This record gives sequence, structure tokens and C-alpha cells, in this order.
Amino acid sequence: MEQDSNRLKEAAGITAVDDMVKSGMKLGLGTGSTAIYAVRRVGELLTQGVLRDICAFATSIQTEIECEKLRIPFYTLNSRELSSGLDLTIDGADEIDPDNYLIKGGGGAHLIEKIAAYASVKYAIVVDESKLTDHLGSGFPIPVEVLPAARAQVIRVLEKIGATVILREAIRKAGPVITEHGNIILDIRFETEPYGFGKHIDPSLMEAELNLIPGVVENGIFTQKPPVVYIARSNGTIETRLSRHLSP
Ligand code: 5RP
Repeated sequence: MEQDSNRLKEAAGITAVDDMVKSGMKLGLGTGSTAIYAVRRVGELLTQGVLRDICAFATSIQTEIECEKLRIPFYTLNSRELSSGLDLTIDGADEIDPDNYLIKGGGGAHLIEKIAAYASVKYAIVVDESKLTDHLGSGFPIPVEVLPAARAQVIRVLEKIGATVILREAIRKAGPVITEHGNIILDIRFETEPYGFGKHIDPSLMEAELNLIPGVVENGIFTQKPPVVYIARSNGTIETRLSRHLSP
């Protein structure tokens, strides 16, 4: 079962790289078990000499380590190489709706992933079909990265607007997950009024609204960078879905 799912993730990652990555690109590399296959494909094509002169940006320590292993040259976004922005970022997602709006942050890397996505000219998302949903937030909670000092106050405001809030707990560490930026993550759902009982969140409004709460560093809703989406189907095909504003 897991093997099948990995096969789909790999197919999506490879197809996106083969379709979209060109030599000389400034390339954002995402985080997670699907994006890692895109990273590996970039490494493979660099080793074969099919790709040259890639300046990569790694969106997490996980991705940095993979770049080190594969000898993919990577830089910070403040470096001379990347300060003018990225040509393309390839990343995974936790949920994707019919408008190609996303929930990300299952791996806790959505802060830097969003900075990379919104700093890119083109954006590609690689998923298997299990990530498709009709309405964001119906299966996967919205991750919200929060300053530890603001935890109680942010929870209070979130509960006031109808969210059920869960502090993300670490595995093999006592207490909460601490992000690469020293923050905590609140996973939130809207199951009660004003959003619950058959009502759905408006992704663009919710993305903006959550970031207005003092102490919220970034949330995992992505609506402002229309991606090309590579969907690996269990029948072995890869569907490429353009965002409406990208369609020819
Ligand atoms: C990490 C992310 C990942 O891209 C997202 O969680 C999908 O991961 P996976 O491909 O392992 O399901 O947003 O913060």
C-alpha cells in the first residue's frame, strides 16, 4: 500500500521536473515525501549532465540535507544568486481544491515554503490523487505557525472565530513541535459556527484573516500563487491541471 503511494509520489515528482526544470534556473525545492522525489530527479539530471547551472533554494533542513547528498548547489534567498527571486518552485501539498488552492504545512515547513512559492515566477505542485478535496479543510486541518509567547492569545482569538485548535505535539521529543524558526504549530479546524454545519471556509479570506492575528507568523493556506498541479492517479496516469488564471 505504502509502496503504491510512493510510486505515485515518485511519478508526480519526476514528471514535474522533466516538464518544467531547465538549465540555469533558480529553483525552489519543497519539503515532504512527494517533493523529495522531485529533488532526487533534479540531482539525477545534474549528475547526468542533462541539467546544468541550477541554483537551488531548499525550503527546509530535510531538503537541504537531500541537496547536500545529491550535490545540488543551494543558496539562501538573501544571496546574490537568489535575491532577485526564483524561476520555479516545486513542492507537495496536503490538500488541494478544484481552484488549485492548497493546504500545506503537514511537515511544518509552510512558512518558508510560502516565501519560496510567492517569490517564484512559476509554481508546480506534485501530489497523488489522495490529496484532492472539494473543500479545503474538510480532511486536513489548517496549520498555523505561532510565536510561542503568543500561544494562549492566538488560541483565544481562533476559538472566538469558531476554530477547534490542537497544539501539534512532537514525536520523540517531549512537548510541542518547535519549527525551524523556534515557533509552535496550531492545527485548526472549523467544525462549529460560523463555518461548520455544511458551511465552508473561503480560502483567500481565511488566508488573509489568520495572518492578521498578532502572534501568527504564517498559516498553511496558499491561494496567491496559482500552481500547475501534477496529480498521480492510481491508474498510472499523470494529470496536469492548470490553474484557471494560468490556462491558455
Ligand atoms: C510540508 C508540506 C508538504 O509539502 C506537505 O505536507 C505534503 O507532504 P507529503 O508529500 O509528504 O504528503 O507542506 O510543510
